[in-house]
Amino acid sequence: MRTSEYTERPIQPARLEREAVARTYHWIAPVHDILARIVEGKARRTAVGMSGLSNGESVLEVAVGTGLNIPLVAQLNPKGRYIGVDITPRMLRRARRRLARTGADPNRYTLGPGDAYNLPFEEAIFDVLINSYMFDMLPQKDFAVVLREFRRVLRPGGRLIMINMTPGPRLYHQIWEQIYRLHPPLLGGCRGIRLGQAARDSGLQLLREAFVSQWTFPSEVLLCRKPGSDTSVPHALRD
Ligand SMILES: C[S@@+](CC[C@H](N)C(=O)[O-])C[C@H]1O[C@@H](n2cnc3c(N)ncnc32)[C@H](O)[C@@H]1O
Repeated sequence: MRTSEYTERPIQPARLEREAVARTYHWIAPVHDILARIVEGKARRTAVGMSGLSNGESVLEVAVGTGLNIPLVAQLNPKGRYIGVDITPRMLRRARRRLARTGADPNRYTLGPGDAYNLPFEEAIFDVLINSYMFDMLPQKDFAVVLREFRRVLRPGGRLIMINMTPGPRLYHQIWEQIYRLHPPLLGGCRGIRLGQAARDSGLQLLREAFVSQWTFPSEVLLCRKPGSDTSVPHALRD
C-alpha cells in the first residue's frame, strides 16, 4: 500500500462523549496498563528521546493517566519541575503511586486535576508539554481548541511532544481500527488519528514526526515547537 493511500483514509469519528471520559476511565484505570505496556512502550521511549528533554526544564504532562511516562521523564530531568494533570481521579491515584515508586523529588514532581480544554496555568510558563494517547479520543473539531490551549501555556520556543494511535500503512494495522469500529471502549475510545496538519494550523512548528509500530499497534509521535524565543525571563516554575 502506498503511504498516500492510508494517510488519506478518513479518520473515524470520536465515540466517547467528553462528559463520559472520566466515568469511562474510572473503570479502565485498573486494567489500563496491561495493553499500554505491551503496545505503547516503544512510542513513549521514542517520544521522550525526540523531545530533547534536558535536566532543569519545566514540564507539563496533560492527561498523565496512570503516569507511564513519569519514570522516563524523571530519569532525564530529576532537577526540573514536572506537573501532571488529568480529569480522572482514579487514573491520577495510580499515577501518584507510580510517582512515589519512581523516587522523584516530591517538591519538583507533582500531580493534580486539570482539563486539557482549560488548563489551570498562566500562559507561557512551560518548556515542554507532553501529551500521549488523548487526542485520539477527542472529536476532530476539538483538536484546534486543545492545541491552542497547549500553545498558550508553552513559553516561546517551548516544545510540544504528542503520541497518538494513528492509521498505519499495513493491513495488520487496521485490526485496531476494526476493534474500535466494533466496540470503542475496548480501546478506551481511541482510534487512529493524524495531528500534524492541525498542529501546523494552530501556529505550531512541526519539527519531527515518527511512525512507531509495536505488536501491530500503530502510533504517531510528533514534536512541535511554539514559535519565538524566550531565554531571558525567569518564569514561575524555575527556582
Ligand atoms: C488512553 S489514556 C492515556 C493516559 C496516558 N497519557 C498514557 O499515555 O498512558 C487517556 C487519558 O486521558 C485523560 N483525558 C481525557 N480527556 C482529558 C482532558 N480533556 N483533560 C485531561 N485529561 C483527559 C483520561 O482521563 C485518561 O487518563
